[in-house]
Amino acid sequence: MMFQSTAAAGLLLAIGASAQSVISSGQGFGTYYYDIDQVDACGTTFEYQNQGGVMCSSETLLSLNQMDTNYIVAMNNTQLGADPSQYCGKRVVVSVNGQKSDLQLFIGDGCQRCGTGSSSSDTWNAEGAPGLDFSYTVLDQLSGGSACNDGHMSISWEILDETIYNFDGSSSGFVSRSGSSGTATVQPSAQSATPTTMRTSASTAQSTASSSTCSDNAWQCNDNVLEQCIGTTWTPRVTCAAGASCQGGSNPYCL
Ligand SMILES: *[C@@H]1O[C@H](CO)[C@@H](O)[C@H](O)[C@H]1NC(C)=O
Repeated sequence: MMFQSTAAAGLLLAIGASAQSVISSGQGFGTYYYDIDQVDACGTTFEYQNQGGVMCSSETLLSLNQMDTNYIVAMNNTQLGADPSQYCGKRVVVSVNGQKSDLQLFIGDGCQRCGTGSSSSDTWNAEGAPGLDFSYTVLDQLSGGSACNDGHMSISWEILDETIYNFDGSSSGFVSRSGSSGTATVQPSAQSATPTTMRTSASTAQSTASSSTCSDNAWQCNDNVLEQCIGTTWTPRVTCAAGASCQGGSNPYCL
């Protein structure tokens, strides 16, 4: 009897601890493009990036500021745009040198650089290289404090079939989990060097965006590209996958 209940408890524990299935994985480079807590860091300001709407909240158009967490991760925007419901809000486990981080990161946005070039490239290229885009705070934690100096770092990742944030418009986005909080921890940084290697999806896009002005956070279709107004400039955010086009006008999606 004693043995049976112990065995049953052990089995339950084993089930509870079993790994969630992996829906996507890869390796490449991590960069940063926003920060809710440290708006001015690395000799730059994230003021405009923070005002950008996250791709996974295309219905309610929540900005990074409104999401109010540094744990949003941007992934290959082509992959995300092709099937947002498969990835949005899902947990991302990031590994550095094969060591898994326990940061409660989740997919929330699209990254243009992460969807350009070869998915198997192991060479850093600011215009296109596989990887993920993070908050500055998270990249600084993953890199052990060298986010500003290095601008990018080698990572690998797994996207798990585990929803930790609901983008479906329910009042509280964070799925409650015992013993874990969805909010990012603030890690003060003494770094101040200006990164020379960093090019985020948003800043890359801004430099090539058309010059027509717009009001911040508005969206539009431009052929098969979803564009968002960031800093009064139309900025490409998502390129629809082959066979899909941008539809929906000011509330666009790929179909
Ligand atoms: C991005 O995703 C698309 C669609 O899944 C894929 O074809 C492409 O190789 C990916 N690009 C990178 C750089 O990972």
